[in-house]
Amino acid sequence: MTKKPLRSQAWFGGSSKDAIMHRSWMKNQGLTADSFDGRPVIGICNTWSELTPCNAHLRGLADRVKRGVLEAGGLPLEFPTMSLGESNLRPTAMLYRNLASMDVEESIRGNPVDGVVLLVGCDKTTPALVMGAASCDLPTIVLSGGPMLNGRVRGEAVGSGTSIWRYSEDVKAGRMTLADFMGAESGMSRSAGSCNTMGTASTMASMVEALGIALPENAALPAVDARRFALAQVTGRRIVDMVKDDMRLSSLLVPAAFRNAIRVNGAIGGSTNAVLHLIAIVGRIGVELGLDDWDEFGRGVPTIVDLQPSGRFLMEEFCYAGGVPVVMRALAEHGLLERDAPSVTGRTAWENVAEAENFGPEVIRSFTDPLTPEGGIAVLRGNLAPNGAVIKPSAATPALMQHRGRAVVFDTIGEYKRRILDPDLDIDADSVMVLRNCGPRGYPGMAEVGNMGLPPKLLAQGVTDMVRISDARMSGTAYGTVVLHVAPEAAAGGPLALVREGDMIELDVAGRRLVLDVSEDELAIRRAAWVPATPAPSGYESLYVRHVLQADQGADFDFLLGCRGAAVPLNSH
Ligand code: FES
Repeated sequence: MTKKPLRSQAWFGGSSKDAIMHRSWMKNQGLTADSFDGRPVIGICNTWSELTPCNAHLRGLADRVKRGVLEAGGLPLEFPTMSLGESNLRPTAMLYRNLASMDVEESIRGNPVDGVVLLVGCDKTTPALVMGAASCDLPTIVLSGGPMLNGRVRGEAVGSGTSIWRYSEDVKAGRMTLADFMGAESGMSRSAGSCNTMGTASTMASMVEALGIALPENAALPAVDARRFALAQVTGRRIVDMVKDDMRLSSLLVPAAFRNAIRVNGAIGGSTNAVLHLIAIVGRIGVELGLDDWDEFGRGVPTIVDLQPSGRFLMEEFCYAGGVPVVMRALAEHGLLERDAPSVTGRTAWENVAEAENFGPEVIRSFTDPLTPEGGIAVLRGNLAPNGAVIKPSAATPALMQHRGRAVVFDTIGEYKRRILDPDLDIDADSVMVLRNCGPRGYPGMAEVGNMGLPPKLLAQGVTDMVRISDARMSGTAYGTVVLHVAPEAAAGGPLALVREGDMIELDVAGRRLVLDVSEDELAIRRAAWVPATPAPSGYESLYVRHVLQADQGADFDFLLGCRGAAVPLNSH
């Protein structure tokens, strides 16, 4: 029983010329007359694409969602949206996250839907769709595509992305042959689904589950597991009930939900990209939550999930261990879960996970024997990052978390690639590698290049990690003592632009400090001489550079902040 007239009836209800026209055209798909009798119309927003391999199986999941919608008495209508494939899309999928969110927002608002299922998978597809839907604020539920099965090469489990970084360095250091590296290609990605590490896709699938906008177990069930198809069907049923209850995103995306997500991110050793994406979602829904909240609420949360890139296992084992519900229950039992946070199930966060059992204590470890005692994301500040920078301590080398070293500066990623191979490059294991002009405006799009590979000559000496600092992002599958998201970025005139080769830089993760040891007078001289780059004169890149916000504000567009609602003026043709 609906509580108020459904939004879709503004298109399909009644006997006006417009209503007849709307129904008539839809009937060319063979829809029956009673399809428009006032039942909830559910849009299934699908990021399926064969160019986004991680999402290439989503048509099958959409069919199961439709089955669930029909069972619950709704009318499912699938529609495509821009798909962002991390592995193929150049120059970086992040350049298009905001564009995809605009596509989603306008597609939802402009069409006769009462509720929406967001079918997501590869990294940026999740935040892009949630951001767009949040700006409309209809009843909405997320369904992730699920991770790939474990990779397996030469008898070993192999993680998406993480193993590529490792093998690449092994080849440079002479520990692996190029032929073996190339041989690993097929065995790494052996089923449908997204990256099987706790990279950005798995992190964001965990985030939507922790936020309460996806059903429990959404994150970890493998893409090919029969239970994911059942989950899709239940998701379809559930969205119909959510429409009947008018359960909108704004009633779910409350501050407690975000605080829970931040803590879950710490416990799972989640990607630094989650910081940007959740801040961007917060900006759409209008909740007060910023960069420093990541430090405040993530502090004291140990990383208990032993998954690559921070740890050993992969998403398949995380699923068998019990997945995100086990993590949330463990957080609750240590006073780190806001139990009353709402969720799409209609139950609280605690009610969803109270019965969760840990079937893999090696994979989801205890608070007394965590993977890393201090998980979460550390937010650094100082004269090198006045508006903040982030580091993922669980992926860093403990001995480097307090470090002072001489800067080796790369102005662009192209310059880095040219110089890093030079055997005469003046660099040693104590140097601090600085990469700039790779932030939101500088790249543009804030590429995942912050985890610069180490110089081959140092790899050959057995060096495995160095302090690296940039205004870029890092793949969620990567690791190292890598300071990211420095704000303001160099291209916006941030202090990163003023660093010179040989300057001393101090990193103090425990003290949350990132300091360039150069006097203010000297910095003022350098600042006066700094010349900003000329942005692209036209096209999407021009729009992006003029409107993108800095990393500490989620790198959304300034004109997209806020919730504009789902109301649309009726047309009159
Ligand atoms: Fe798509 Fe990793 S490349 S999830």
